[in-house]
Amino acid sequence: MSKAVQTAAPGSRPKGVEGEQQVGRWVRRMFDGVAPRYDLLNHVLSGNMDRLWRARTVRMLADRIAAPGAVVVDLCCGSGDLMLALAKRRGATVFGSDFCHPMLIEAARKARARRASTPLVEADALNLPLASSSASVLTVAFGFRNLANYDKGLREMYRVLKPGGTVAILEFSTPPNRAFRACYDFYSLRVLPRIGAMLSGKDAADAYRYLPESVRRFPDANSLALLMRETGFQSVRFRRMTFGVVALHLGVK
Ligand SMILES: C[S@@+](CC[C@H](N)C(=O)[O-])C[C@H]1O[C@@H](n2cnc3c(N)ncnc32)[C@H](O)[C@@H]1O
Repeated sequence: MSKAVQTAAPGSRPKGVEGEQQVGRWVRRMFDGVAPRYDLLNHVLSGNMDRLWRARTVRMLADRIAAPGAVVVDLCCGSGDLMLALAKRRGATVFGSDFCHPMLIEAARKARARRASTPLVEADALNLPLASSSASVLTVAFGFRNLANYDKGLREMYRVLKPGGTVAILEFSTPPNRAFRACYDFYSLRVLPRIGAMLSGKDAADAYRYLPESVRRFPDANSLALLMRETGFQSVRFRRMTFGVVALHLGVK
């Protein structure tokens, strides 16, 4: 293991919550509470950078999405922004999947408004009701970090992907530059939870305390790449965006 690689966290662990099932339930309930204001908060807290990150992800996947007969599944699709951006590409059959019902309602509403045909599946990403080797592309944006077991999540993605299929994980990461990281930590630990609580009310305050904590616990870009390789993914590479605030990891089955 190289020096730059952190010891990988086994999965999301909100403070005071133990056990995979409990973590899953806690995460789902947290997103239930955030769903009505999720989009607004996302755009405000990221200064609209989230749109850019998703757009770049879609561009990086353009050829694979456009391949004849491509089946794309956006896991942890939430309110559907990445799913809908993927569906804009001509020719792709795009599904969305998430375990939070209010998020899926929001995704369905947006899909209707944009006349997009994007079937939705309510499911846990750790146990997908999808056939093995059925998807050509699997994407997950800002959802992977919340899984109770990263290893299980990667193995499930590997199972569902067709041989030759691509997985794309867009996730918050650790900025490698120390000075930048200090500023970013100040913003995410001190400023972000306050804005989050102000905009979403006290009920969702937990969510915006959890967000920076979960980002800090999450494996850095090299460690996530290592986990992907250990699962069996090949040609694993990542691209940092916005000084490493987020990273897009790609891998092939
Ligand atoms: C931060 S939101 C991201 C939503 C969307 N992908 C985006 O880019 O805006 C994380 C989403 O992951 C979902 N999620 C977290 N853990 C999950 C799991 N184990 N199975 C399915 N969905 C999960 C949550 O319900 C939530 O909608």
